[in-house]
Amino acid sequence: MSKVPALELIDIHKTFGNVEVLKGISLKAYDGDVISILGSSGSGKSTFLRCINMLENPTKGEIIFNGESLNLVPSGSDLVSGNMKQLTKMRQQIGFVFQSFNLWPHMTILQNVMEGPAHVLKRPKHEVMAYAEHLLDKVGIADKKHMYPNQLSGGQQQRVAIARTLAMDPQVILFDEPTSALDPELVGEVLGVMRNLADEGRTMLIVTHEMNFAREVSSDVVFLHQGVVEEQGAPSKVFGSPESERCKAFLSSVF
Ligand SMILES: Nc1ncnc2c1ncn2[C@@H]1O[C@H](COP(=O)(O)OP(=O)(O)OP(=O)(O)O)[C@@H](O)[C@H]1O
Ligand SMILES: [Mg+2]
Repeated sequence: MSKVPALELIDIHKTFGNVEVLKGISLKAYDGDVISILGSSGSGKSTFLRCINMLENPTKGEIIFNGESLNLVPSGSDLVSGNMKQLTKMRQQIGFVFQSFNLWPHMTILQNVMEGPAHVLKRPKHEVMAYAEHLLDKVGIADKKHMYPNQLSGGQQQRVAIARTLAMDPQVILFDEPTSALDPELVGEVLGVMRNLADEGRTMLIVTHEMNFAREVSSDVVFLHQGVVEEQGAPSKVFGSPESERCKAFLSSVF
């Protein structure tokens, strides 16, 4: 029996105005895959990641989650969900960690992590609290649980954002440059948490400029250039012996 990918994207296109920023991107992620998405600024990495859970509406393409194709219908030049219930269910199972943390400023750290499972999943409060405390411990900030986001460093806030995502028990987690808003000395603590998640076998798609991290933790690396997959493969291949001249040039500019 062939395995069904956790997530499959087929021929994703996205046009803004008359500029086509994604020109047909396909990708499969199986359970346990850690896929790093690399590329220079403007190559379409964020747009692609946002199309996966329809934070951005693709112009064309197919999104399949656990073998179930997302119902997409044309609206103007884009595709929109034709079944909000299905999309909401999928979004609950695909976590998204943003560059800018996006914590709720008026809630404590603990409340931030409890919010999704308590109010969206409607799990019992005592269970949710125990799980949130466990997750905060796991990302190394259990002692900050009664503080507010603005009382934490960027690295601490991003670890809370990761705990908040984990609290929903997502099957797949998307990260869009989770460390690029951080001071250099705080990057390592967030990458450490992500490395642990990779070691646990979590399925992750990571847009990152942290090349050493990508090389060490990824099962696959995808290099985007001007909206197309220019190079793809195991990290040893993409970093060690890339075929594309553009990929070679990109890597030599960042190492
Ligand atoms: N909402 C939008 N409206 C118009 N153009 C957009 C929009 N969002 C992105 N773009 C354009 O699409 C292209 C790809 O942008 P995207 O943010 O996906 O790049 P990126 O690879 O994530 O870059 P970076 O590394 O700087 O984050 C860019 O040319 C950008 O200007
Ligand atoms: Mg981006």
